Amino acid sequence: MTNHAGNPGDAHIPVMLEEALDHLRCKPGGTYVDATVGLGGHSQGILEKIQPGGLLIGIDRDKETLERAQARLKQISNGFRLLHDNYKNLPLILNNLATGPVDGILLDLGVSSYQLLSPERGFSFHSDAMLDMRMDRTQQWTAADLVNTLSETELADVIYRYGEERLSRRIAAAIVLERSKAPITRCAQLAEIVSRAFKARGHQSIHPATRTFQALRIAVNEELEGLEEFLSEAFGFLKPQGRMVVIAFHSLEDRIVKKTFRRLAGQCVCEAPPELCRCPRQVLACLLTPRPVTPSPEELAANPRARSARLRSLERI
Ligand SMILES: C[S@@+](CC[C@H](N)C(=O)[O-])C[C@H]1O[C@@H](n2cnc3c(N)ncnc32)[C@H](O)[C@@H]1O
Repeated sequence: MTNHAGNPGDAHIPVMLEEALDHLRCKPGGTYVDATVGLGGHSQGILEKIQPGGLLIGIDRDKETLERAQARLKQISNGFRLLHDNYKNLPLILNNLATGPVDGILLDLGVSSYQLLSPERGFSFHSDAMLDMRMDRTQQWTAADLVNTLSETELADVIYRYGEERLSRRIAAAIVLERSKAPITRCAQLAEIVSRAFKARGHQSIHPATRTFQALRIAVNEELEGLEEFLSEAFGFLKPQGRMVVIAFHSLEDRIVKKTFRRLAGQCVCEAPPELCRCPRQVLACLLTPRPVTPSPEELAANPRARSARLRSLERI
């Protein structure tokens, strides 16, 4: 996640940059993947450290951010390739590029502040833009499509599962009632419907629509689908001593990262009592972060948006 002031992208602060670079242990001549390039903050850090002779492969499903990253990275070196793709296609991408195994893979998950703060992208309950939320604008379905076509039960399930929102049923019922009068097409319109469903619930520390918007964003972009499989597959492309570093911004994705990394490190992931545990316990990696790394107080003061970030890393044996 990145922080901005003024135009989206003007003041760009990558989250836990030093920590991510330390954990990746970037070295000159190495080959690294930034699977979520965004505006290229982490990519820039990697590119600077892998010269001379290194190669950075950068992926993002958002074409606009990639164009900005391209302009930024060009000023440092031409030792990079940027690809507009879903990182879930990484195995195909690496096979096509014939890079062989790589030294490190970084994932800085979720939405960028560029996306969040660009009103026309329709991610924010503060804007009155069209309800869109697509990271990849070549994708067909938008948040408005979900809100206007899912059944009440499906909507409630999405809001509960991806937003961990206790009022999911009430919110889904309010959405279905409103859309029977007219389609819900704008961010502010949805934010207002959700806020009304919260009435008489007393003071909220966050905007009442926060969790519903998070849920719709995750659903539209299928952010959690296949994440575990992706991490396992991508791990297979690391060289021995190669490292994978993941920064997650909410507990749902962090839980998947934690579980997958524990499994790769040969630890129990079934949570059964030890005598009943049937986990295969094949040790393929060394866990570098038994506990997640969190942003320093200095970073939080400079960039409060980093507050929910959790970094985990492992090294292939
Ligand atoms: C938190 S931002 C990354 C910010 C970046 N590290 C930087 O310093 O600018 C996450 C980025 O991941 C991209 N993204 C999310 N899911 C993706 C996926 N499945 N495939 C490719 N890119 C994805 C988003 O479009 C967004 O630009």
